[in-house]
Amino acid sequence: MKKLIGLAAAGALIVGLAGCASGGSGGGAAEGPVPLDELVVGFAQVGAESGWRTANTKDIQASFEEAGIELKFSDAQQKQENQIKAIRSYIQQGVDYIAFSPVVETGWDAVLNEAKAAGIPVVLTDRAVDSQDDSLYVSFLGSDFIEEGKKAGQWVLDEYADATEKVNIVQLEGTTGAAPAIDRAEGFAEVIAENENLEVIASQTGDFTRAGGKQVMEAMLKSNPDIDLVYAHNDDMGLGAIEAIEAAGLVPGEDIKIVTVDAVKDGMQALADGKINFIVECSPLLGKQLVDIITTLNEGGTVEKRIITEETTFTQEQAIEALPDRQY
Ligand code: AHR
Repeated sequence: MKKLIGLAAAGALIVGLAGCASGGSGGGAAEGPVPLDELVVGFAQVGAESGWRTANTKDIQASFEEAGIELKFSDAQQKQENQIKAIRSYIQQGVDYIAFSPVVETGWDAVLNEAKAAGIPVVLTDRAVDSQDDSLYVSFLGSDFIEEGKKAGQWVLDEYADATEKVNIVQLEGTTGAAPAIDRAEGFAEVIAENENLEVIASQTGDFTRAGGKQVMEAMLKSNPDIDLVYAHNDDMGLGAIEAIEAAGLVPGEDIKIVTVDAVKDGMQALADGKINFIVECSPLLGKQLVDIITTLNEGGTVEKRIITEETTFTQEQAIEALPDRQY
């Protein structure tokens, strides 16, 4: 009933009825819980840009399968317009819940208002939107990216505590406008500002991809001969930077130190091998918590507006220890 009222309010009753027929059946406190095998959730993923994203997709799909909840999944190939299309399609199909990881922070109000008008609760996973209206989503589950940037900055601050000369840092940014790119840069900058010898001499986006990281690093090596440290917003860009550094005849981890975020298996292996110096963990394993949020809402319960993922950091020694049990 809640969904039908919402759809009528949106002037889209016919679409709503068609949607219910295709599987969406509402849910929540007023009607009592929908049996899990009748629930339908639409998930609009960013893409498959990184090892982190692949692990995140697998975990979400496996968690919904295990819970016996139908998951409609779409891959936006890192394009906001594709994600908006996918969300609109989920609204038309009348899914019970929508979850998505916004590729960038801005530009979501219109489509989120459409979901709200249709009575479909939205859960943000992994990344935030910068909307002023927080009634447009029920919960935001994911990492504290500013904190991740601060942890990376703290390692650099400690590593160069005795530096008497300028330390040249280059930053490989994530996707322009994405929450993790904005926040990881902000947290890092705040902490390294404590030592005036630490300077970010170049900063450019590598779009969270290995190829992007390699390409940007190649260009940076050409225009900056004295790079001391690379801060990459994810492992994949750090791994791309390693390829560029080695191709330039330098030793990653020694001639140029590398700090990254994520801690996926390939990154952890490079850390254990001494090619990366420090990794800040960003956990992609959000599936079970997302299922919990949805089942709680389905039973009429309430969920926290902000659920922050628990994460750690890894030194080279810790990576060697952790690698055998690393799930992703
Ligand atoms: O939003 C999380 C970030 O997105 C990960 O750190 C990065 O690898 C991914 O592409």
